[in-house]
Amino acid sequence: MGSAKIAEGKTKIVRPYREGYALLEFKDDITAGDGARHDVLPGKGVLNAQTSAYLFRVLEGKGISTHYVGMYDERTMIVKYLKMIPVEVVLRNIATGSVVKRLPINEGERFDPPIIEFFLKDDSRHDPMLNYHHMEHLKLMTRKEAERVEEIMYGVNDALFPLLKSKGLILYDFKLEFGRLGDELVVGDEITLDSMRVREEGTGRILDKDLYRKGADLETVRKAYEEFYRRLTS
Ligand code: C5P
Repeated sequence: MGSAKIAEGKTKIVRPYREGYALLEFKDDITAGDGARHDVLPGKGVLNAQTSAYLFRVLEGKGISTHYVGMYDERTMIVKYLKMIPVEVVLRNIATGSVVKRLPINEGERFDPPIIEFFLKDDSRHDPMLNYHHMEHLKLMTRKEAERVEEIMYGVNDALFPLLKSKGLILYDFKLEFGRLGDELVVGDEITLDSMRVREEGTGRILDKDLYRKGADLETVRKAYEEFYRRLTS
């Protein structure tokens, strides 16, 4: 696909499509540490596009609005063109990752109810955490919108946690990005193993991008992404 780009990130390219829509192409690139580590993992783009599409369809089935429209090709989704909000919204069921580094919280602690955090998308500042006040001041989201976003996050968790559990998998945490379509807040971006943490129930075996973050070889990472997609869709 050689057409013009609207935007290109570390792992995806946005291209123009029909009025009101865009194409979202998933690249084979994998990165960590705000882009400090970077590799190309053949097959990852297709796996992530398919995983994301599958999970967006699950959410749509539960009445949650997403940007997903359909597939253009095996690594490219047709999406509604949203005005994206540069905030990463994280929901945590079980403590791991940045939260156990920042706060006196132990690895593996259960959050009940789940915790939600907001971060500014800004690699140069290492994605600092935001509260409602910061978001209002920076004109990212009003408090009312942030509360609506939290409601949607809980809805997504209520859809995905039991689904993964039924496959013997535990959803530790996930990150979503939101965009505006008129007055509506819509789930955009992706839902993949790059943006969520999934562990095998019982063994605790890691299936997500933490493998790569922790230095696993690329074939181990690819196999984990493949296994997740197979189990998800089985
Ligand atoms: O690193 P941290 O523990 O804050 O990550 C929480 C969740 O958000 C993880 O599932 C991680 O994969 C995801 N995340 C992301 N993009 C980032 C930072 C975190 O998808 N830039």
